[in-house]
Amino acid sequence: MTSGNDKTPPKFGTVFAPRMAICWYKDGAWSEPVIEPLQNLPLHPAAHALHYSSSIFEGFKAYRWRDGSVHLFRLDRHMARMENSAELLCLQFPGRDVVAGMVQEAVASCRDEIPDPPGALYVRPVLIGTVPDIGAAAIPATEFCLYVLLSPVGDYFAGGLRPLRILVDEEHYRTAPHLGVVKAGANYAAALKNIVTARSEHQIDQVLFCPGGDVQETGAANFLLIRDGHILTKRLDTSFLHGVTRDSVLTLGRDLGYKIEERDFTVAEMLEWCRDGEAALSGTAAVLTPVGTLVHEGKEIQVGGGGVGEHTGRLREELVRIQCGESADRHNWLTRVDG
Ligand SMILES: Cc1ncc(COP(=O)(O)O)c(C=O)c1O
Repeated sequence: MTSGNDKTPPKFGTVFAPRMAICWYKDGAWSEPVIEPLQNLPLHPAAHALHYSSSIFEGFKAYRWRDGSVHLFRLDRHMARMENSAELLCLQFPGRDVVAGMVQEAVASCRDEIPDPPGALYVRPVLIGTVPDIGAAAIPATEFCLYVLLSPVGDYFAGGLRPLRILVDEEHYRTAPHLGVVKAGANYAAALKNIVTARSEHQIDQVLFCPGGDVQETGAANFLLIRDGHILTKRLDTSFLHGVTRDSVLTLGRDLGYKIEERDFTVAEMLEWCRDGEAALSGTAAVLTPVGTLVHEGKEIQVGGGGVGEHTGRLREELVRIQCGESADRHNWLTRVDG
């Protein structure tokens, strides 16, 4: 199938393309990556990842343009982040070029599965420790599997962009302060109970983790304050995930003449800003989504006008246009997938 397909994109993350790329590390060497039909992994019940969370992943998208060509967004950045995650969790990594090649081959083999924009093909490279060794709690795994899973996804915001309702949590950490920078399943597990509790108690979409008043990030996206000519977001440290979308929005903001400020800020400063400024979440899935309401100490605080702020809308539009090939790729963010 070429461009112009009329498939209705399925619910985010629940449907998978029929092929994946995969390779294995054993006896000190990686096997040659291959494209295989999507299938269950042969995993020993004692696999290191299942017991000691030797497991990391990445998440980004391939877009089909109007002319039928397919493009990956910021592949190099995602490869660099994956390598960093692997290093911090003591996992073997076959190298950025190898994984980037696997991504390209896998996407090329499933190019007919890519929905038209605003849908895309979500790309999920995963690296897990497979060695069967439940005695290795304090020892790195010695056998690994790296695979690239693909999932056709629709518009995350089918039915329109809806301003989010966010709980400001000053009590809990999302994860351990030195590991927020790692894209590991264990971090999502660490945050889950607090998110589930907050959802049922406050009917919120997400929790903004601000331990001790330090505004960090939500469970699955970065947090930005935006107003006329000015964007403020936390400076990069190890406590949170260094989002590629965050970096892209800051770069586009700079292009548009916004002053970009990356520094720590407190909940008090954020609340002050939100009286007449905007707040937004950035991420591969969320793109740039406005925050309409903050729930703080039992009170509801409307952010700016409570809707889709002018600046958030403008920056989001700029980013989406580049991703879909409607604006020039002036920062060389896109990698064309051949084949
Ligand atoms: C915890 C967390 N923070 C931030 C992000 C945003 O990262 P990116 O823009 O690279 O998708 C994500 C999404 O993957 C995330 O899960």
